[in-house]
Amino acid sequence: MNHPVRKILVTSALPYANGSIHMGHMVEYIQTDIWVRFQKMRGHQCIYVCADDAHGTPIMLRAQNEGITPEELVTRIGKEHRTDFAAFDIGFDNYHSTHSDENRELAETIYGRLKENGHIVSRIIEQAYDPEKEMFLPDRFVRGTCPKCGTDDQYGDNCEACGATYDPTDLINPVSAVSGATPIRKKSEHLFFKLADFQDMLTQWTRAGHLQPEVSNKLDEWLNEELREWDISRDAPYFGFEIPDAPDKYFYVWLDAPMGYFASFKNLCERRSQEGRDDINFDDFLAKDSDAELYHFIGKDIISFHALFWPAVLAGANLRTPTAIYAHGFLTVNGQKMSKSRGTFINARHYLDHLDPEYLRYYFAAKLTSRIDDIDLNFEDFMARVNSDLVGKVVNIASRCAGFISKKCDGQLSAQCGEPELYQRFVDAGETIATLYEDREFSHAMREIMALADLANQYIDEQKPWVLAKDEATTAQAQAIYSTGVNLFRILITYLKPVLPVMAEKAEAFLNIAALNWYSCAEPLTNHVIKKFKPLMTRVEQDKIDAVLADAQKTLAAKQPAKPVNKKEVGNMDPIAETIQYDDFAKIDLRIARIAKAEHVEGADKLLQLTLDLGDETRNVFAGIKSAYAPEDLEGKLTVMVANLAPRKMRFGISEGMVLAAGPGGKDLWILEPGEGAQPGMRVK
Ligand code: MSP
Ligand code: ZN
Repeated sequence: MNHPVRKILVTSALPYANGSIHMGHMVEYIQTDIWVRFQKMRGHQCIYVCADDAHGTPIMLRAQNEGITPEELVTRIGKEHRTDFAAFDIGFDNYHSTHSDENRELAETIYGRLKENGHIVSRIIEQAYDPEKEMFLPDRFVRGTCPKCGTDDQYGDNCEACGATYDPTDLINPVSAVSGATPIRKKSEHLFFKLADFQDMLTQWTRAGHLQPEVSNKLDEWLNEELREWDISRDAPYFGFEIPDAPDKYFYVWLDAPMGYFASFKNLCERRSQEGRDDINFDDFLAKDSDAELYHFIGKDIISFHALFWPAVLAGANLRTPTAIYAHGFLTVNGQKMSKSRGTFINARHYLDHLDPEYLRYYFAAKLTSRIDDIDLNFEDFMARVNSDLVGKVVNIASRCAGFISKKCDGQLSAQCGEPELYQRFVDAGETIATLYEDREFSHAMREIMALADLANQYIDEQKPWVLAKDEATTAQAQAIYSTGVNLFRILITYLKPVLPVMAEKAEAFLNIAALNWYSCAEPLTNHVIKKFKPLMTRVEQDKIDAVLADAQKTLAAKQPAKPVNKKEVGNMDPIAETIQYDDFAKIDLRIARIAKAEHVEGADKLLQLTLDLGDETRNVFAGIKSAYAPEDLEGKLTVMVANLAPRKMRFGISEGMVLAAGPGGKDLWILEPGEGAQPGMRVK
């Protein structure tokens, strides 16, 4: 067997270092990890690197809010990210940070070359500036009334109500989301990358097989017009790398972020060479004429950064461009965009606390294709697929066959394969399945594998070895059939190994064999002793799914203000609560309540315990209004409450609703008192 060894560097997008990993992210890391594990099983030199994306305004502001340095924040979140990824068995060869020495050096070198080659210009621009906080405001940190349709509280770059796009300075009554001050316009000098220098190169490059066809088509929207200069600098205060020769100016996060791929790779190369291994050479992978392949897996929201700016920057710095960019769609949960208010914003941690990571790896594999369509996580479908395919079909083969081999044959497989033709058919399917993996048609690959699993089960059903096993004279036949079953199982596990590395490892232990690679099943195991079978995977249970969703719901209640799901240039953090739709608002049941009783709570310095009369029922509610009201002032008063808030267990008891109050807090806090005509139990509209 002679397979040429490819040199492959693979990346997933670098998650922002200011938020937790969630189920949407996991689509990408699982997709990439499956592809990388497949390449490794094929014997290629495949290196998978990633890092935290540490720079930018949101990270700086979040650290300020927490009263820590950005470095501290980034270190803490980086640890959390690594833990979550490891739990999902994402096998990075290296995980680094964009806030690293390697990246600073790369950013300076690449920028230096762009400048030398005449691709950088400087220009004075006018921008929104927060006079109180003394900082320039990214578009998303300015909010105000849409100049087109008049909807309040819109972002500075576009209106979520009417879809208009504009400049933050066009907003009516703009406010800074950082301080609440009215932004002013202020001038400052910025550095720009002349993207138009690469118009021809990009027009050609985006059509040369490096991108999915739908991505190339989308980019025509940009390429049909003259490409605009790209603003790559930001003024202090900013968390990032200061630009050489430009004091108080920093590289925009999106300039140094993709360089972070190489920084992580460099960090790996250096560590390996310190360990005396020099099988990979950093410069070889980056050189213009490199024979190594370079792939970036990304989500569809960051295509322009990877398929336009990044190749142009690389070309401008005389470096190689990517072999391909592989974009995927967005995750929806039960058919809808992940949403905090619906409780479908599920963090990796929520999932990991209750469910086996391999369920999700398989489920995503069963859904992923090479296209950029969104993919849906539907929990009913999730449970049905995992239970019927993995537990019902694949693991079932091993558990059906292993008992007899262990008990009646001392673990010994037959001297010959019972069904060489069927075995060969399984082996031959390997190349088709490999092509599907290579092409990222995982869904199709899973279907092929499950069709083989069906064949294996059918074979056992038809042969009825359990009947033969009863008679001494035919036990050898039964052994041959069960041995064939075990051998077919071994092939199936090989094909599933990129998706289910943990199950594969358990299967290797049970089969008593060395780690499987793509080619290790050419011949069946004969005269071989296997170990006792232990269950490889248990069924998905509904109560575990419910527990995940309950946890997702809980963080919603605990964390305010919420972060918007949709981020663009500011990353995924925002100081203002996520906009909700009317439907979400309509779900809140606001009622008039009479405060029947108000009491101090032993050991609580902020809470009062209220007994609220809703006309036909009473509720026990803990309210944090002790700083503003004495219990006796409240008794008998009418107030407004949220009547359908899920009961929450607090330290002092269960709270069955929430009282609405207004004001900055402390003494200045007023419960909302309805006017004349209000009756307990009345709905508030
Ligand atoms: N920091 C940038 C990437 C820089 S790469 C040089 C970023 N970070 S992110 O944390 O917002 O997203 C990381 C990756 O996860 C992106 O590829 C993004 O598309 C992907 N996803 C984030 N939310 C997602 C879903 N809901 N569904 C699928 N992928 C999603 O962007
Ligand atoms: Zn509008």
